[in-house]
Amino acid sequence: MPSDQTLLSQNDFDIIRSILHEKSGITIADHKKQMVENRITKRMKELNLSCFSDYTKMIESKDKTDEMVHLVNSLTTNVTHFFREGHHFTHLAEEMSKRLNDKQKPIRLWSAACSIGAEPYSCAMTILDTYKKQGPHPNLKILATDIDTIALKRARNGQYPEKVTKGLSKAQLLEYFTQEKSQNNNEKTYRVKQHVRKMVSFNYLNFNQTHWPMSGPFDFIFCRNALIYFNREKQNEYIEKMLKLLAPGGFFYLGHSEHSVMEKRNLKIIGQTIYQKP
Ligand SMILES: C[S@@+](CC[C@H](N)C(=O)[O-])C[C@H]1O[C@@H](n2cnc3c(N)ncnc32)[C@H](O)[C@@H]1O
Repeated sequence: MPSDQTLLSQNDFDIIRSILHEKSGITIADHKKQMVENRITKRMKELNLSCFSDYTKMIESKDKTDEMVHLVNSLTTNVTHFFREGHHFTHLAEEMSKRLNDKQKPIRLWSAACSIGAEPYSCAMTILDTYKKQGPHPNLKILATDIDTIALKRARNGQYPEKVTKGLSKAQLLEYFTQEKSQNNNEKTYRVKQHVRKMVSFNYLNFNQTHWPMSGPFDFIFCRNALIYFNREKQNEYIEKMLKLLAPGGFFYLGHSEHSVMEKRNLKIIGQTIYQKP
């Protein structure tokens, strides 16, 4: 049986989630206590700590703020896969085809909570497919951001175990990936080819930081399956900031369960969780 010290007390749980909220805006619900316990236990093993109160003391002390990045990395949820919610990519392909008729105008796309990169690379592959008929656009940029530094590292590397590639067809795997063995465990993996990786710039962004360094305007913003982790106040704050960065006529894509954040906003509903700025 575990001793009391190896279980997460309500007090330590509250300290951890309040510090996480202050840093990232993420709200952790009461029923997620076990999840927090499991994930922090993993981090405590790395730090050689055996009791949660030592960990909370550490994150509370001002000179240990370096731990904050690990706390955030431990508690974010990075579930994703390629071509998740496929109708968004069908829409992106249609809009790209229209925009390729005018190659003078720059095209900017932002994947705003990109996790390990499946979303921005799905955008890049969709765009490359449209180039086959209409030729490449000379001034297209894809920005992908996330708060999780480990997810960003994996995204830049672009190498995925087979289970993450489930949204991809055999033809897409052949065209846009190379098969490689993982250096860690010899597992079969697929790596995004270099010309696709080069289309995407990955950067750190915490929605909760006051200054967002990107200036926009973006023609397409994907912010899918991230806003569910924030309370209504934070959702409104972040959505307003993103909409300011969206170009008139630009498109915004949300996750399937997030449509309520767009209620009462001056946006056209174009399709399932697809919105257009007038
Ligand atoms: C479930 S993933 C969504 C990935 C992808 N957009 C998709 O739909 O497949 C949610 C992502 O939001 C990121 N995230 C959470 N809080 C954030 C914050 N405050 N700022 C930026 N990204 C955040 C997490 O690190 C995580 O990678």
